[in-house]
Amino acid sequence: MLTLSSTLAGMRILVTGASGFIGSHLCRSLSDTGAEVHGVSRVPRTGVEKGLRWWQGDLADPAIVRELISTVKPEIIFHLAAGDTRANRDVNLVLPIFRDNLSTAVNVLTAATETGCGRIVLAGSLDEPEPGAPPSSPYAAAKVAIQAYAQLFHRIFQMPVVVARMFMAYGPGQEAVQKLIPYVTLSLLQGQGPKLSSGQRLVDWIYIDDLVEGLTALAQAPDVEGCTVDLGSGFLVSVRAVVQELVRLTGSTAEPVFGAIQERPMEQLRTAKVNETYSQTGWKVRTPLEKGLSQTIDWYRARLTSEVSRATSA
Ligand SMILES: NC(=O)c1ccc[n+]([C@@H]2O[C@H](COP(=O)([O-])OP(=O)(O)OC[C@H]3O[C@@H](n4cnc5c(N)ncnc54)[C@H](OP(=O)(O)O)[C@@H]3O)[C@@H](O)[C@H]2O)c1
Repeated sequence: MLTLSSTLAGMRILVTGASGFIGSHLCRSLSDTGAEVHGVSRVPRTGVEKGLRWWQGDLADPAIVRELISTVKPEIIFHLAAGDTRANRDVNLVLPIFRDNLSTAVNVLTAATETGCGRIVLAGSLDEPEPGAPPSSPYAAAKVAIQAYAQLFHRIFQMPVVVARMFMAYGPGQEAVQKLIPYVTLSLLQGQGPKLSSGQRLVDWIYIDDLVEGLTALAQAPDVEGCTVDLGSGFLVSVRAVVQELVRLTGSTAEPVFGAIQERPMEQLRTAKVNETYSQTGWKVRTPLEKGLSQTIDWYRARLTSEVSRATSA
């Protein structure tokens, strides 16, 4: 079994979902610390970033995962690959989510057990139900099952697995424009009133830079194997309050339309146990919501501006 070093510089790290929102930020940060970062994507990626090597493959295929992990021999794996992460209550999502979220995780755990690995960080979610309660979506069901496999591989096969229970991440670079903060920000910046549910849902929001620091801390913290560690702010803020803050910070005159969309049933109400996380990892969030939202708005504004200038020069 490989053992974990106290620094990530020079370590071989595999990040699945490396092209995604969280994965791309994590890869940049790990590369900056001097780690040898291997990212995997289903599509060929040609952009060579400092310290990041790309591999191509579908992680739902166990043979591809076995080949990838036995070739890279990562000392740390962050498994962030996932299909649709919106937690919609749609039966058509059951099989794709089973495949891309659960099978990929089981394939990574199995291959890593064959090759050996110093730490495997799996992606949990605020959408997981409390123990014994039913999952509210195909996504939540996959996350519950991932927890069970994490325990199996830790307890029975002695693998150093930790589950990062990530709360609602937001920030620059989030391309999933159907998600709340990207959707509302882009609508407001384009002078359109976003259509929303009542906005009463209370959510624990976490800025992407903080989340990346939390993931990095989890990869290095001693004695967290077999645990699920919350990565969130510890504060609940309603969707309505976040939307109103986005209106204020963008200076938009467009009016959000609350109540235009039905509430989703069984929405999870969960706050990160930040004291527990701090005592396990020494990590806590640093970015106030207002600052995180402002930086996020700046990024979408710049993106819209560059899209407009590209369209006019074409
Ligand atoms: N964002 C949040 O607020 C949040 C909160 C809690 C938990 N999480 C969890 O954190 C993880 C990352 O979330 P994210 O928001 O960064 O997701 P994301 O932006 O959707 O990125 C996930 C990436 O996974 C890759 N992928 C999907 N299926 C794959 C497959 N079969 N094989 C290989 N790669 C595959 C895709 O990359 P390619 O298209 O390049 O293959 C995709 O870009 C997920 O497990 C999610 O459930 C996220």
